[in-house]
Amino acid sequence: MKTRITELFGIKHPIIQGGMHYVGYAELAAAVSNAGGLGIITGLTQPTPEDLAKEIAKCQGMTDKPFGVNLTFLPAFFAPPYPEYIQAIVEGGVKIVETAGRSPEQYMPALKAAGITVIHKCTSVRHSLKAEKIGCDAVSVDGFECGGHPGEDDIPNMILLPRAAEELKIPFVASGGMADGRSLVAALSLGAEGINMGTRFIATKEAPVHENVKKALVAANELQTRLIMRPLRNTERVLTNAAVEKILEIERQKGAATSIEDIREFVAGPENRRVLQEGVMDAGAWSCGMVAGLIHDIPSCKELIDRIMRDAEQIIRKRLEGFLQ
Ligand SMILES: Cc1cc2nc3c(=O)[nH]c(=O)nc-3n(C[C@H](O)[C@H](O)[C@H](O)COP(=O)(O)O)c2cc1C
Repeated sequence: MKTRITELFGIKHPIIQGGMHYVGYAELAAAVSNAGGLGIITGLTQPTPEDLAKEIAKCQGMTDKPFGVNLTFLPAFFAPPYPEYIQAIVEGGVKIVETAGRSPEQYMPALKAAGITVIHKCTSVRHSLKAEKIGCDAVSVDGFECGGHPGEDDIPNMILLPRAAEELKIPFVASGGMADGRSLVAALSLGAEGINMGTRFIATKEAPVHENVKKALVAANELQTRLIMRPLRNTERVLTNAAVEKILEIERQKGAATSIEDIREFVAGPENRRVLQEGVMDAGAWSCGMVAGLIHDIPSCKELIDRIMRDAEQIIRKRLEGFLQ
């Protein structure tokens, strides 16, 4: 399949693995890239820019295919030294960066001077247009279904993607709720030129997370995600667990007066890592998309990507063609 996204990134299949905190290590990024997609290392999961440099070198030792690094600009307990992370990316020779959260505008000159292709992930048409205006090469349009931060507009992909298609000139991928060949064909129909997946890639053999997390995704259905941090306007879609229900109870009690300090013990990095890395499933909140309802197995990244491409081709050639008289 050839789209503007496969051309832009020099990849075989129009499938991207979005940056994921405590999941997007070299092992997963390399597996996705080796399977013909675009793997992405999560920059800020590495505690320092030096650690990111090592992770990039590790990934280069595991794949000769293109891969990227995610840089997320979200409210954090401690502001990371972004210029130094960018330096590690540039000096490591990485040519693709996925930005997310706030606009990457102030870092665009440095990224562009290094010849880096930038795909910005955002949750609205207006932010997509801003990304286009400041020189991003592509956008990842993240619908309300998505795992992680869906923004505050609550527009699902059935509306958001065709709206993005109406306005954007640069290519975009559909992000949020993507799981299989059906998702890919639907995304292409709605104007996207590929898909970005987060949650689905966690339930793969190579994802470096605890087995309990993968099993939880297979067991979960589409009703089991919750939105936390709404009162803080930093909404996050997570899989429900004891910690999440506690957060929601605090948010119900405190309403608009909820502060990050009220829920910090359940959403801070160490708790997130305990769930993902140690498999302590009630330790804290962890991002997860509604797409959990479509995850029924734990394939390798290659099996997953091959299956998506095979099924997409079947749907296009057989099912869709078949409807035409
Ligand atoms: C566990 C997890 C952690 C995530 N961490 C980040 C992150 O650090 N930065 C980021 O830009 N997106 C992050 N995301 C969002 C994904 O990159 C992707 O946009 C999202 O998962 C797409 O929705 P889906 O889960 O329905 O596929 C995360 C998602 C998950 C599930």
